Amino acid sequence: MKFFVDTADTQAIRELNELGMVDGVTTNPSLIHKSGRDIKEVVKEIAEMVDGPVSAETVATDYDGMIAEGHEVAKLGDNIAIKVPLTWNGLKACKTLSGEGHMVNVTLCFSAAQALLAAKAGATFISPFLGRLDDINLDGVDLIADIREIYDNYGFETQILAASIRSVNHITEVAKVGADVATAPADVIKKMAAHPLTDKGLAAFLADWEKTGQSIL
Ligand code: E4P
Repeated sequence: MKFFVDTADTQAIRELNELGMVDGVTTNPSLIHKSGRDIKEVVKEIAEMVDGPVSAETVATDYDGMIAEGHEVAKLGDNIAIKVPLTWNGLKACKTLSGEGHMVNVTLCFSAAQALLAAKAGATFISPFLGRLDDINLDGVDLIADIREIYDNYGFETQILAASIRSVNHITEVAKVGADVATAPADVIKKMAAHPLTDKGLAAFLADWEKTGQSIL
């Protein structure tokens, strides 16, 4: 499974990237706002830092606007995935941009029917939003499983990019049902290393080691 970092915070990306944990990055207008930086400047910096796909989201809602913005963000690096919303115009833009050879990430997906349309429109990535479904008491993991089954039934190559991930459990659950990629905030990825029994076990080992009076160095 690939890990994308869901942030426009270059420091957080750099730290995980140095550990080899970053297979790509996703941004959206809210994350750009949170960064306080210019979209072109920050996306270019991220695209230079990371080898894998870096998603930059268009904000136009009409087809022509999405195409124009898509072409503009694609200039920021060879590894840019143009992000378009799962609207009818977004699907049309996906078809055109993917036909031109661009990577396209179709975002704001909340149903298997939407995901099927995105695959038919040539999406490189489909981004189902787990956390936002959970927020309204719907099961985001079930959605990923449904999309996996449909894509496998017909051999669609669109990668399932599980998004809106809020917890470590989300990551393990979507890995179990076959998501190709999980995009998560840096703090959620770092929390994957934590377990209370690891901390407890380490404390016990160190206490016993202290009693031996030994030193390895
Ligand atoms: C990533 O591509 C999405 O924009 C992001 O995961 C949305 O996450 P949120 O629901 O926590 O805002």
